Amino acid sequence: MSIRTMRYLGDPVLRMKCSPVKEITPGVLSLIDEMAEIMYDIPGIGLAAPQIGVNKRVIIFDIGEGLEVLINPEIISREDELESQEGCLSIPDRELLVKRAQKITVRALNKEGEKKTFAFEGLIARVVQHEIDHLDGRLIVDTGRPVPESEEEN
Ligand code: NI
Repeated sequence: MSIRTMRYLGDPVLRMKCSPVKEITPGVLSLIDEMAEIMYDIPGIGLAAPQIGVNKRVIIFDIGEGLEVLINPEIISREDELESQEGCLSIPDRELLVKRAQKITVRALNKEGEKKTFAFEGLIARVVQHEIDHLDGRLIVDTGRPVPESEEEN
């Protein structure tokens, strides 16, 4: 059972700049487990720690290819911008058009505390950029624009 719960638009924790993780402690690992439990339960494809009220630079995602965990992620390069529809678990039932890079390179720690470089593209790149925005208190309501009615998907 999770103790922490989802936080929604209007909750101040979603607007904070999160702190880097200094050390992979048992507390960090249990945070990751809790995030995964909550994300799969909804279900969602990505989650950032502040979305369950924790002010730490941890994101997780799974677009159907297995769970990935990035700690202290930093985008070191971006390529090819694309605007596409995006939702957020903290802003239910709302989709906005958000411009994102289609390809990114990210440096982050994995769960073992090893520094790795990742190349992501397509949906994963979009999800990772969305979740990293959460770590800086940035939401799709800041960066996106409404979907014009003619472009709405039914
Ligand atoms: Ni979100």
